[in-house]
Amino acid sequence: MIDKATVQKIKDTADIVDVVSDYVHLVRRGANYMGLCPFHNERTPSFSVNKARNYCYCFSCHKGGSPVNFIMEKEGISYHDALLHLARKYGIKVEEKELTDEERELQSRKEGMFVANEWAMQYFEHNLTDTQDGKDIGLQYLYGRGVTEEAIRQFHLGYAIDRGTDFVEAARKKGFSIDTMKTLGLVGTSQQGHDYDRFRGRVIFPILNSSGKVIAFGGRDLKGGPAKYINSPESELYKKSNELYGMYQARSAIVREDRCFLVEGYLDVIGMWQSGLKNVVASSGTALTDGQISLIHRFTKNVTLIYDGDAAGIKASLRGIDMLLSHQLDVKVLLLPDGDDPDSFARKHTPEEFREYVKTHEADIIRFKTQVLMNEVNDDPMRRVEAIRSVVQSLACIPDKVKRDVYIQECSRILNVSEDSVGAATAKARAVIVEQLTRQRRLRELNHDIESGRIPPQPSVTAGNITSGPATPSLSDREAPRQSQSTLNPPRRGNETLAPADNSLQPLEWNVLVYCIRYGFLDFCDGVDEEGVKTTMNVIDYVAEELAADGISFSVPQYAKMFSLLESMSGDFNHELLNFRESLSAEKENMRTRGFNEIAAKELSVAEIQKEEAMLETTVEEWENVKLAEFSKSYPARILASHEDDEVRALTTAAISERHQLSHIYSRERPVEREEDKLFNLLPTALTVWKNGILDRQMNELLSRFREIAGKGMADEEREMQARLNDLFRMRSEVAKNIGDRILAPARRSGRPGSKK
Ligand code: CTP
Ligand code: MN
Repeated sequence: MIDKATVQKIKDTADIVDVVSDYVHLVRRGANYMGLCPFHNERTPSFSVNKARNYCYCFSCHKGGSPVNFIMEKEGISYHDALLHLARKYGIKVEEKELTDEERELQSRKEGMFVANEWAMQYFEHNLTDTQDGKDIGLQYLYGRGVTEEAIRQFHLGYAIDRGTDFVEAARKKGFSIDTMKTLGLVGTSQQGHDYDRFRGRVIFPILNSSGKVIAFGGRDLKGGPAKYINSPESELYKKSNELYGMYQARSAIVREDRCFLVEGYLDVIGMWQSGLKNVVASSGTALTDGQISLIHRFTKNVTLIYDGDAAGIKASLRGIDMLLSHQLDVKVLLLPDGDDPDSFARKHTPEEFREYVKTHEADIIRFKTQVLMNEVNDDPMRRVEAIRSVVQSLACIPDKVKRDVYIQECSRILNVSEDSVGAATAKARAVIVEQLTRQRRLRELNHDIESGRIPPQPSVTAGNITSGPATPSLSDREAPRQSQSTLNPPRRGNETLAPADNSLQPLEWNVLVYCIRYGFLDFCDGVDEEGVKTTMNVIDYVAEELAADGISFSVPQYAKMFSLLESMSGDFNHELLNFRESLSAEKENMRTRGFNEIAAKELSVAEIQKEEAMLETTVEEWENVKLAEFSKSYPARILASHEDDEVRALTTAAISERHQLSHIYSRERPVEREEDKLFNLLPTALTVWKNGILDRQMNELLSRFREIAGKGMADEEREMQARLNDLFRMRSEVAKNIGDRILAPARRSGRPGSKK
C-alpha cells in the first residue's frame, strides 16, 4: 500500500503531456495537444490531451483519463502498479505503507473471495459444456431458449450439477475455505451440520462488476421448483443495489451508443445482446436504486426502460422515474407488445426490426406518465387531482430549469390545466426538494469535515477576544434562561423585566431586535448607496435603513443600546470576515484539486467531464457561501454572548435561545422549515408590525384628544385633527396591506417596502 500523501504527490507531479509523450507524438493545437490515439489504429489524430485539466481523451475510442488511467490502460497494469510506474518516472520515493492487520485481513479476505468466485464461475462453465449432465440439462435448456454459444461464452453461463455436494467436494479438493464459500452463498449448512451446494440443477448466471470481476451468481431453476431464481447474498463483494447485470459486457456499447437500455431479467439482457442491442443491463427484477442510477450515469445520461405492455409493466415503468429524473438522466420508456418481454421479442424479430420498433415506440417518460395517468382518471375529480399532483412531483424532480419549463408547458396541455398553475405548483414542490437536498449536502459536508478532522466539533472562531459563547446561536440553548413562550412577551432575567412594562411597543421592538442579534451580518437584500451604486445590505443594515426612513428608533433604552452596539460592530466584522475568507481559501483549493482528481479518475466522456467540473465549481462556491453565511450570521451573537455588560449578555442569550421562534415546522409531506429561510418574510413583517403599533398609538392619542375637544366650539382644531386622523387611517391601512403583501408575496425588495414616503 502506498500512503495517501505519496499517492497525492504522484498524482500532483505526473503531467499528462509529459506522460503521454512517452508513447505518442503530440502536436500543440490551441489550448490542447493532439496525437494519434495509442489505443486504436487511426490515421487522423483524435487523441486529445488537456494540460490544464491534466487528462487525455480519445474522441474516437473514448479511452483516456488521468495520467494514472493512461498508464493503467497503456501498460495493462493495476492502479497500484501504475502509481509505482509514475513514481519511478518522476523519482518519487515510495515507502509502501504497512497495512494494518485489519486492513490486511480485509484486503486478503476480499481477494480470497474474488479468487473463490472466479474459480466457481469457471467450474460452473466447465460443468455446462464439458459434463454429460450439463450438456443434457443445462445446455439443452439454453439452446431451447435460443441462447447462442457466443452469448454463453461472453456471459460465462454455467450449470450447477444436481448432486447435493458436487460443488462442495470440488471446492474442498481444490483447497478453498468452505467458510469463504458460505459467505459467498455458494455453500449452505444443513441443520445436521452437513455442507451442501446451494446451487443445484440450475443454470448459472454470473454477475460481474463493471470491471469484470465476479461478484455474485444467479441460478435459474430448470425443474419447476418453487424458487425460480436463487441469488448470491450480499457480501463484501456484492452490494446488490450498486450493481446492474450485464454492465461489464455492455459498458463500451453504452458509451458508443450514448444510451443504456434497462430491462428486468438476465435472459432479457442476453436476448437483446444477441439481437445486436448490446447496450443493455438489468436491474434483476427489483426497483432501481440510486447506486444503480449513478452507475449508469458514469457511461451515459440517456436511459430507455423496456417493459411489458401489460398493466403490470406499465405500473413498473412508472416506479422509480422520479429518481431517474433527479439524476439528470434523459429517460425514455418503451412498451413491448402485450405478452412479450425483451427476450421473446428479440427472438421473434430481426435486429433491424427491433431497432425500428425502438425508434417508433420509444416515448418520453414524463409525457408517457402524464398520458397514462390521465387515461386512468375517468372523470373522477379526486383521481384527476391525484394525477396532477403526481405529475407535478415528477416535474419538480428535473434539476434543469429550462427542461422543466418545457415539460411544464407540455404537461399542462395534456393535463388540461393552466400552465401557470402547473408552473407554480412545480416551483413549490421544487423548492421543497432543493431545500432537502441542500440540507442533506450541508450535513454530509459537515460530517465529512468533522470526520476528517478539518473542523473540530466545537468550531473555534477567528474572533480574537471571544472564548466562549455558542458557536451557532440557533443550535445552543444550553444557557437559555427560562423562556416566555410568546414573542410578544419581553425577555426576562429571573423575574425582573428588562423594560418598562407600560410600553406597548416593547414586544414589537424586541421582535425586530431578535432578528438583528440572530442573523446580524447575514446578507439580506440588495440596496443602493448614496452614490447610487448597488450594494448588498445585511440584516442590521436593512433594519437601520428601514428605521431611518421612517424616522423611528427603539424606544426601550436597552434595545436602543443593543442596536447601536450591533451597528458599531460592522467594522470589526468586515475585518474578521476577510480573515475568515482567507482561512477558507486553502480548503477551497483542496476541494477543487480533490474534485478534479476524482473526475479525472472516472471514465467519463469529455462532455461529462466538463459538466462535472462545472458542477464541482458550483459546489465549491456554494460551500464557501454557506460557510461565509454561517460566519456572518453568528458573528454578533458570538461576540455579544460574552460581552462585559450583564444586560447585553442577557439580551443576547435571550434572543438566540427564544424557543418558539426557532420552532421548526414539522409536517409529514414538507421537510423542516427553518426560520432563516423565511427571514425574507419574517423580518419585514416584524418591522411592519412595529410601525403599525406606532401608528396605533398615535391614533389612540389623537382620538382621546379629539374626544376632549369635541363639541367645545374649536372647529378649526377639530378639522385639523380630523385631517390628521384620516392621514393616520390611510397610513395604517397601507401598512396593514403591506403585512398582507409580505405574507402572500415576499417580493424582492425594490425601493423601501413599508416606507410611506
Ligand atoms: N428474479 C429473481 N428471483 C426471482 C425471480 C426473478 O432474482 N425469484 C430476478 C432475476 O434477475 C430475473 C428477473 O428478476 O432475471 C426477472 O424475472 P423474470 O422475468 O421472472 O425472469 P426471467 O429472467 O425473465 O426468466 P424467464 O424468462 O425464464 O421467466
Ligand atoms: Mn423472461
